[in-house]
Amino acid sequence: MCCSKVTKDQALRIVKQYEQVMGIINKYDKQKEQLLSILLDIQCASGENYVAEEWAEVVARELELPISKVHDVLTFYAMFNIEPKGKYVIEICKSTPCHVTKADAVVKMFEEELGIKLGQTTPDNLFTLLHTSCVGACDIGPVAKIGDDVYGNLTADKVAEIVTSYRGVSSCQK
Ligand code: FES
Repeated sequence: MCCSKVTKDQALRIVKQYEQVMGIINKYDKQKEQLLSILLDIQCASGENYVAEEWAEVVARELELPISKVHDVLTFYAMFNIEPKGKYVIEICKSTPCHVTKADAVVKMFEEELGIKLGQTTPDNLFTLLHTSCVGACDIGPVAKIGDDVYGNLTADKVAEIVTSYRGVSSCQK
């Protein structure tokens, strides 16, 4: 007896995603040198800010690359996610210099502002809240990093401003 069935809606979604992925690969003429751009576009289009294994396999097949090469890229670059994440990943530094400047309080500020706990993603898939280690901005601790942007000397007001500034931004990266 079959244990799981794909519903019609799920099947349609998979087909649509496959067409989207193929569209991105074809947009770059299946060029191996465009691997990073292709993976970034796929991550952006996923709606969950990650590159799923099935799409990594499609990329490897279409670009005629070993899947290990695609995995290497996905795991080497911090900008890629291989698990679903919010569009914006807020990383709060937990290394000692930031810790002593009340990084824990900053975690609580973000938790309150976002309505989630550390490690969770908001229901609208916009924000994921995580810890990180030193991002090299110890002199302005406590620090949070979102993409390439680093925010320091954080207070509750600043946290609220930062979150507001990211809401309503339509591109994959602010
Ligand atoms: S310890 Fe937080 S940025 Fe260095």
